[in-house]
Amino acid sequence: MVKKDRMKTDGKATLTLNGQTYELPVIVGTENEHAIDITNLRNETGYITFDPGFANTGSCSSNVTFVDGEKGILRYRGYPIEDLAAHGTFIETAYLLIFGELPTRTERQEFRHLLDEQELLHEDLRHHFEGFPSNGHPMAILSAVINALGCYHPDLLRINTEEDFLRAAAKIISKVRTIAAWSFRKAQGLPFMYPDPKLTYCRNFLHMMHSLPHRPFEPTDAQVRALTLFFLLHADHEQNCSCSTVRMVQSTEANMFASVSAGICALWGRLHGGANAGVIAMLEKIHEGNFSVQECVERVKKKEFRLMGFGHRIYKSFDPRAKILREAANDMLKSTGYNDPLLDIALELAETALNDEYFTERKLYPNVDFYSGIILRALGIPVNMFPVMFAIGRMPGWIAHWNEANTDGIVKIHRPRQIYTGRAPRKYVPLDLRK
Ligand code: ACO
Repeated sequence: MVKKDRMKTDGKATLTLNGQTYELPVIVGTENEHAIDITNLRNETGYITFDPGFANTGSCSSNVTFVDGEKGILRYRGYPIEDLAAHGTFIETAYLLIFGELPTRTERQEFRHLLDEQELLHEDLRHHFEGFPSNGHPMAILSAVINALGCYHPDLLRINTEEDFLRAAAKIISKVRTIAAWSFRKAQGLPFMYPDPKLTYCRNFLHMMHSLPHRPFEPTDAQVRALTLFFLLHADHEQNCSCSTVRMVQSTEANMFASVSAGICALWGRLHGGANAGVIAMLEKIHEGNFSVQECVERVKKKEFRLMGFGHRIYKSFDPRAKILREAANDMLKSTGYNDPLLDIALELAETALNDEYFTERKLYPNVDFYSGIILRALGIPVNMFPVMFAIGRMPGWIAHWNEANTDGIVKIHRPRQIYTGRAPRKYVPLDLRK
């Protein structure tokens, strides 16, 4: 198990309330991030803090991922995302996130073998797909089937040992791509393709998506590389909405299957995992002539709609993942000869927005979703599967956070407070007297 570093304290902050002074510890992280520890604030003062959207609230300490939004830095377990993207694979990155260190050659081999062993679904679970309508949204199917997976492994609903954790993590990371691919096959009315253990993680996924019984799908190296990068760059992003959801559900001591299933639901929304589908819809409207790039930017500035794939709660200079994916999209399209006019529109749109004060003043830059949809389209992934792809990539991160929360020895259910703004106490009105 990963050993978690302790937080250090660094002096005290002073709070004065109604003439009384309180001292609050200041804590500091590895990267010199400071926080005021308000753990005892309500007990000591009777006050709570008010922070809708939690933009100023540290909900936990974590060893997994570091993001510096001002400087555009993203590191998994201390390794810069640029290095992992240049040299690593998705599986190696998953191992790093989950176990805290890059695997040795033997560890990588063993982990791959474990994932290969887990790639099939129980045949009864296969029948669950028959219960969904063919136009059922693949995110609903993914969330439901991952949760149902727990029914097939009741011994893993409570994780007590490292061995249990490893088995549960491997099952989810391996089977999530089988479930995702089968939801697509179901929607297409195509036979389910069983996984092929001879193939690597990404090739295997593309095989289950696109092969036919009489015609195997053989992706190019550039396509596999682009998919690897897509998964790797999405593998974790510290306490975002879906990760926080996973940790919140875990705080009730819910099992790993249920917790990541809740994470999938949180990811589904348009402002989170659904954003890259919004980008494609916007680019298609421009392509179809509904409005020009310039008109699109003007309408965004009038706040008729948001420029999808722009802006980020954390990144206020640039999103390092967007830079890497822009190159990957370019390389893949070039090497496959697939000409996507939407990439040219995206590049023009980004250029126009980045030279406009509305965006620069608000520090709005392309985020990871701005280019990822182009890659997914070129891989033959339909738009409604985009958040599913994000969920496959994010699974190692969710699992790493689930495990960190499960093993950090702090048993505290997540339970924020509120400022009540409803009606003051009033008398019950009998039915006959109500107007
Ligand atoms: N287009 C136009 N204006 C925007 C955009 C955008 N994409 N994003 C923020 N703004 C504006 C807001 O209207 C607001 O303007 P105002 O000061 O005049 O009121 C200002 O910028 C600040 O906006 P907030 O909503 O407070 O910014 P926040 O940091 O909370 O939002 C978010 C982050 C949700 C990602 C937002 O930028 C957005 O909606 N982007 C589009 C959706 C998107 O791409 N989501 C993917 C995020 S990355 C991910 O989940 C992997």
